[in-house]
Amino acid sequence: MRTRRAALTAISGAAALALTLTACGQSSSGGSKEKTGDVKGATIGIAMPTKSSERWINDGNDMVKNLEAKGYKTKLVYGEDDPSTQVSQIENLITQGVKGLIIAAIDNKSLNNVLQEAKQANIPVIAYDRLILGTPNVDYYASFDNEKVGTLQGTYIVHKLGLDSGKTGPFNIELFAGSNDDNNTQYFFNGAMKVFQPYIDKKQLVVKSGQTKLNQVTTLRWDGATAQKRMEDILTSTYTSGKVDAVLSPYDGISIGIIAALKSDGYGSASKPLPVITGQDAELASVKSIIAGQQTQTVFKDSRKETAVAVSMVDDVLHGKKPQVNDTTTYTNGSKVVPAYLLQPVSVDKTNYEDVLVKGGYYTDSQLK
Ligand code: GAL
Repeated sequence: MRTRRAALTAISGAAALALTLTACGQSSSGGSKEKTGDVKGATIGIAMPTKSSERWINDGNDMVKNLEAKGYKTKLVYGEDDPSTQVSQIENLITQGVKGLIIAAIDNKSLNNVLQEAKQANIPVIAYDRLILGTPNVDYYASFDNEKVGTLQGTYIVHKLGLDSGKTGPFNIELFAGSNDDNNTQYFFNGAMKVFQPYIDKKQLVVKSGQTKLNQVTTLRWDGATAQKRMEDILTSTYTSGKVDAVLSPYDGISIGIIAALKSDGYGSASKPLPVITGQDAELASVKSIIAGQQTQTVFKDSRKETAVAVSMVDDVLHGKKPQVNDTTTYTNGSKVVPAYLLQPVSVDKTNYEDVLVKGGYYTDSQLK
């Protein structure tokens, strides 16, 4: 968990971003009636996927701080990775009279009915981090450039193996993707595969298991134990000879599972070093693993900025203003193109974690010991 100092930095970072968003001047009036009177002290419902991953705990806490700083009350719920639990939690929030909803979906297609109820109650909905699919009743999307996350992971592997500086391998790589019910999964995977494809075509990168299609490599609910089991199965079935040189992992919790499988297969010694292993979220355990030389890289997505964007969006909508967006083409949800504000992710490894995460106020040095 981050410290109070980090939390304070988070608030000021969020406040600065909110100011920037407003100062950009694009939050112009949408023409609808000013609702300031109605929304003063209103409660915003926040539905998060799970507490089993540190990132969503940080996001939830930052969201509450950002909303309270704007004078809102909050109700924060976690669906423990069960889609039907999340649906009933959102139903309860609507019944309790929330004036806005910020939702990070568990199953992107399970919310259509409940969001129809939100629409009838005139409650604006912000899709947070993960796009909600198949319904017109999602107003805005606050996220990161998800394809870029995959590009950063793919580029990191290619660079670390030396493929971009004349080495030709062949190097063995195995591929992991996120949950198949999370819309982000395909963006992360496709972003990385676009980088890998030319090297796969030249046989400089070889997916020895043969599992290269998205539907062969997903990991339900981003579960580390599921990924660990799949990595064990691949090692047993495919690597009786040869070794794994790189693993595309989309998320830190999955990377930790993959590393456990590799270590129980004897990887991690001088004669059999761990492969290059990517990740995402800069979770504490993974940053420590990077410092210890096990996981190689992660992609940092600053929850302080992402929550500030979501909070600005709901605040603007409730005040009859048009939120600032920077993407109105990419995120089609099957019903409409959802206007989005996408932040830029940052690749982090042993060489820059101090600059990005410690100097950036996300972790203290003592937390990383
Ligand atoms: C994704 C999110 C990632 C990671 C993953 C698992 O939707 O974009 O940052 O947190 O879920 O929780």
